[in-house]
Amino acid sequence: MNISEENDYYMKDRCARKTALYRKFIVTFTSIQISTGLAMRRFRVFVLLVLGLSSHLTSFGNTQELQSLWRSLNNGLEIPMIGFGAHFRTPVNEEELLLRALKTGYRLFDTAWVYPKSEEHLGNALKKWFEEGGNRDDLVITTKLPLSGLRAGDVEIYLNDSLKNLGLDYIDMYLIHGPIGMHRLDNLKSHVYANGTGDFDFTTDHLSVWRAMEDQVKAGRVRSIGLSTFNASQILRIWNQAEIKPSNLQIEGNLYIQQKELRTLCNELGIVVTAFFPIGSNVTNLPAPMDNSVVQKIAEKYGKTPTQILLNYSIHLGFVPIPNTKNPDRMRENLDIFDFELDYDDFEELSALDQYGKYRKFDFEGLFKGSSKHPEYPFADRRSLYT
Ligand SMILES: NC(=O)c1ccc[n+]([C@@H]2O[C@H](COP(=O)([O-])OP(=O)(O)OC[C@H]3O[C@@H](n4cnc5c(N)ncnc54)[C@H](OP(=O)(O)O)[C@@H]3O)[C@@H](O)[C@H]2O)c1
Repeated sequence: MNISEENDYYMKDRCARKTALYRKFIVTFTSIQISTGLAMRRFRVFVLLVLGLSSHLTSFGNTQELQSLWRSLNNGLEIPMIGFGAHFRTPVNEEELLLRALKTGYRLFDTAWVYPKSEEHLGNALKKWFEEGGNRDDLVITTKLPLSGLRAGDVEIYLNDSLKNLGLDYIDMYLIHGPIGMHRLDNLKSHVYANGTGDFDFTTDHLSVWRAMEDQVKAGRVRSIGLSTFNASQILRIWNQAEIKPSNLQIEGNLYIQQKELRTLCNELGIVVTAFFPIGSNVTNLPAPMDNSVVQKIAEKYGKTPTQILLNYSIHLGFVPIPNTKNPDRMRENLDIFDFELDYDDFEELSALDQYGKYRKFDFEGLFKGSSKHPEYPFADRRSLYT
């Protein structure tokens, strides 16, 4: 897309104009921040506050709706700076909550073939939203090829199933869900032995799978392709051989696992990094970032909640966070994070709280025993800085 086409695209309506203006300011002032000192940063805070307060609310139908800022992928696709994780860990009224998330203003949704019924729930919510006047072009939908589909010949089979589940004719971001291949059953699910050990496919070949992913872009079924929980050398191996480069990496990322090295690598390659578990999730009893006393002190200073501080900080690190909540008030709370900016000192304090891999929650072993024996297991060392 050239600049004038891009302008046309984003000048469609009043809401989009505001977003474009806001984005221009973010880009401009982010560059300024890199090259100048405190005075400029303070000026930027002021401008963001004024713009943020005046433009991050807009109306959709009869409801007041919040908006995310947007950013670009390396292939020109624009995505919101924050999304909604469509995977609910416990059964709830998923469709209603996803429709609520759409009406709250979320435009990026993350799901996966492997999350039970998640694609169908999202598909049903999207259908209702379209019926009420919502526009497909305003959305960015991510879903993922499961570990049981990591063979070139299986990519299209799983993608078609995802499209059917979602009721869509294209996916915006299609990711390989992880680097470890598994054998599958006839119903496409992973084969797992009775004792919980996975039936792994030790012949996993990332490059042939990637070529099949590229074919899906060429066929128009997918707009961009990427990776999830791949380590640096796996990313580079694909990057160096790819005809269509990865544009998104999804990894665990929050206050306690800040992923500096992977963020730096992806920044250099122009890969946008999505953070799952941005709040710290509730899947284990490891310490929760929102309970950290520094986070709570900073939240008090800005008159925000600890979670808003965590999500704002996540975006400042360059992540696109995809929090999930089953609570409609928290949906708003988690999106209402664009009207303030952390001071340099607060940023430094939060940065010092990184625990690297120590509090990693997602390590594949929790899902499929024996994962760490796969030749493509991404975490050679649980505390590795590089994964
Ligand atoms: N690529 C991958 O391999 C991968 C792996 C895991 C997850 N994911 C994606 O990441 C998404 C998010 O994962 P997640 O839900 O486990 O982690 P999360 O978003 O970090 O945490 C969700 C937890 O935080 C709570 N919460 C949300 N907003 C809150 C707020 N404002 N104040 C207090 N508590 C709040 C929620 O409770 P309430 O519901 O009670 O608010 C829930 O317990 C998933 O939906 C999925 O799309 C991807």
